[in-house]
Amino acid sequence: MIWSLAGHLTQSLPGEAAHRLAVKALAHGLGPKCPPDHFGDALNTSVAGMDFANPLGLAAGFDKDAEAMEGAFGLGFGMVEIGTVTPLPQPGNPKPRVFRLGRDNAVINRYGFNNSGMEAAAGRLTRFRQGYHGKGVLGVNIGANKDSADRVQDYHACARRLAPFADYLTVNVSSPNTPGLRGLQEPEFLAEVLDAAREGMTAAGAIRPVMLKLAPDLDRAGLEAAVGVAVERGCSGLIIANTTISRPQHLKSQHRHEAGGLSGAPVFGLSTEMLHDCRRMAPEGFPLIAVGGVLDAATAYAKILAGGDLVQLYTGLAISDAGLPRRILNGLDQYLARDGFSTIADAVGAASSVDEACRISGVSLMG
Ligand code: FNR
Repeated sequence: MIWSLAGHLTQSLPGEAAHRLAVKALAHGLGPKCPPDHFGDALNTSVAGMDFANPLGLAAGFDKDAEAMEGAFGLGFGMVEIGTVTPLPQPGNPKPRVFRLGRDNAVINRYGFNNSGMEAAAGRLTRFRQGYHGKGVLGVNIGANKDSADRVQDYHACARRLAPFADYLTVNVSSPNTPGLRGLQEPEFLAEVLDAAREGMTAAGAIRPVMLKLAPDLDRAGLEAAVGVAVERGCSGLIIANTTISRPQHLKSQHRHEAGGLSGAPVFGLSTEMLHDCRRMAPEGFPLIAVGGVLDAATAYAKILAGGDLVQLYTGLAISDAGLPRRILNGLDQYLARDGFSTIADAVGAASSVDEACRISGVSLMG
């Protein structure tokens, strides 16, 4: 009840105020209490050596400062990824910097890694680790400060400080809102960044699976090169994908020309095609986390059929309500049963194309 009131309230607030309210509500224990292992055993899955009670995750950017992890697991998510965290606190870009595109089921944000820095995150993660004994898997997403003199070193510092608290680390080189950051996706820089993160974990004595998060705006040659470096440098998997700087023609909302990263329904096709390409480019069985435009059970199922071992979402939660993860997980359970898959892993990559994945799941592709 309280959550539903907060839900209605958040829809009428400007984007950033709504976001803050939702984080605070979850941090204070308001909201559903539905643990990740509440759903069917068919949803259990093992990826990159980690056991997930279910394949649905909260993507990075919602809980940037590690304030609401337990609350987020209570929505049903099997994985929660906090961050992006940078070594030093930074304010991010001037407000307004997040816009709802209501008619497009989308968001544009240009937050610019506003966060309270790795020391504050480490403090909250320490308390979380002392108090949480549930089945949720915690990812820590790391990045570089805007004004850093040595961005590669920033990944080393964050990995060293934060890996001990993480089940997995995500190296984020794909936010469009820190000028020049996405240049780190180029092979020579990417190798340095990934090596720096690994050395940071080694220095901390905390080796964790490392996921590399890429931008959907990479061209196919850039993607192939990045996937090659990720595999060669020992990454455990890829997260496909971050927000896009592209603006599809069909967008209708007033704010469609705002600068920043676009997420939600308009990135579903782009990110799912990229996911499917990665399945082909990476070695067989290489872990892929699918994110971009998951708004319901059908879009989540399409991601799995197109090659996602796990699925994350953010915008869906921002434009829907706190019951969304539960509805998606119940829906996935039903799709698996309907199509004769006894586990999630059996359905991963079962479609030979994105079109086929959409046909099976009943998703219609826009634009
Ligand atoms: C994001 N995203 C994001 N990703 C990341 O790696 N670090 C971050 O700090 C953020 N911040 C952020 C803020 C906001 C307001 C949004 C909407 C998104 C990207 C996010 O994790 C995801 O990759 C994309 O949004 C695509 O998924 P959805 O939103 O379409 O489900």
